[in-house]
Amino acid sequence: MDEKIIDLKKELDGELSACENVADLENIRVKYLGKKGSVTDLLKEMKNLSNEEKKTFGQKVNELKNEVSDKITERMNDLKKKELEKELNAMPEFDVSMPPSLDRGSYHPITLVQRQCEAVFKSMGFAVEDYSEVVTDYECFEALNIPKHHPARDMQDTYYLENGQLLKSHTSAAQNAIYKKYKDALVNEGKPIKAIFPGRCFRNEATDACHENTFFQMEGVMVDKDISISSLIFFMKTMLSEVFKKDIKVRLRPGFFPFVEPGFELDISCLICGGDGCPSCKHSGWLELCPCGMIHPEVLKAGGIDPEEYTGFAFGLGLTRLAMMKYGVKDIRDLNSGSLKSLSQFTDDE
Ligand code: DAH
Repeated sequence: MDEKIIDLKKELDGELSACENVADLENIRVKYLGKKGSVTDLLKEMKNLSNEEKKTFGQKVNELKNEVSDKITERMNDLKKKELEKELNAMPEFDVSMPPSLDRGSYHPITLVQRQCEAVFKSMGFAVEDYSEVVTDYECFEALNIPKHHPARDMQDTYYLENGQLLKSHTSAAQNAIYKKYKDALVNEGKPIKAIFPGRCFRNEATDACHENTFFQMEGVMVDKDISISSLIFFMKTMLSEVFKKDIKVRLRPGFFPFVEPGFELDISCLICGGDGCPSCKHSGWLELCPCGMIHPEVLKAGGIDPEEYTGFAFGLGLTRLAMMKYGVKDIRDLNSGSLKSLSQFTDDE
């Protein structure tokens, strides 16, 4: 019997050193320790022995069982270590001091200008709000002093859902909700309403180099006691000078929008010639950028704010237009094209 144990150990040692992978080792474990394995067979042979012999032999087989199990575990650890090393060696070298790969993606130019504007307004205490793309007729028009059949609706024809809701034709559609959200803090705590809300807008529009059915705007409002047109000019000038990284002159021309009174078109000094006149600004020295105005009393009322006590300004910055101006994009359709050739050349220059 003792010889059998010695032979079995020898055989096991030979097999273990020849075994080169984890799966084969598993087979060896079954061959020796499994229900029909060689060690288990030895135990079965005990039935032919005397009681005294059974005791010593049983002990030896148990020791053998432990030894076999330990050896297999040890070999298993060895093999796992080797397999891991092999895997690691097969991996490409990673140098932490290398600059990031140039193949990574880039932000869309509209995202870039949106983020720049948000950063500037945030630093001036404005909250950045997100608003749904699907809105009601009330939010998009009625609450903005544009009743049914008002001619101003013609320019804002958009896409209607079967339930009567619509895809917002301008970010002004969020104004009513913003006033309602912040009015209590304004009245009870004296906190001015200062919010911007960038968003995607839609219009039923024939597309060409300057028109798209999908574009981005960023609306901004500020409401408090004694807000005047000079507050509007200050905030716009500061924001635009930051975004364009140069001192920007602004001017206001009268403009009509039913939700502001008075309403303006805000122009900025030409980015190319600085105001001297060049082909880009049609020799006027000015570029039209952002409609704005003092919020109409009816609009404040619809938002639950007393126009006798509070005033405010609102503006609707065309983010798409801003991105085109900042990055010299000539055709608006390139921005929605998904063409990486056009879109991946812009980087955040912050
Ligand atoms: N919502 C207007 C549009 O898309 C733009 C606009 C004009 C927004 C005047 C304003 C504003 O906030 O005061 O045509």
